[in-house]
Amino acid sequence: AFTLEARRSGVTVLVPEGRSAAQVLMDAGVAVPLSCEQGICGTCLVAVIEGVPEHRDEYQTDEEKAANTHMTPCCSRARSARLVLDL
Ligand code: FES
Repeated sequence: AFTLEARRSGVTVLVPEGRSAAQVLMDAGVAVPLSCEQGICGTCLVAVIEGVPEHRDEYQTDEEKAANTHMTPCCSRARSARLVLDL
């Protein structure tokens, strides 16, 4: 599990194993743009403000993933205990 803050929304949630970051955020009332929910389309791509994502998408290039400036909350998770997103 990891702590996830949607800074613009002022919402912080705990994302447990087995649930996606996007689903937990939406349950908390945060609007997350979604389409494929499989890490392919890039619809959900969002800027990372703090923390290190664990990329599980196939949308970003290896270089983009290594930069850790954006992540796909439909399928990606966090390597750090806390992740802050521009949502
Ligand atoms: Fe398609 Fe996240 S919804 S990559």
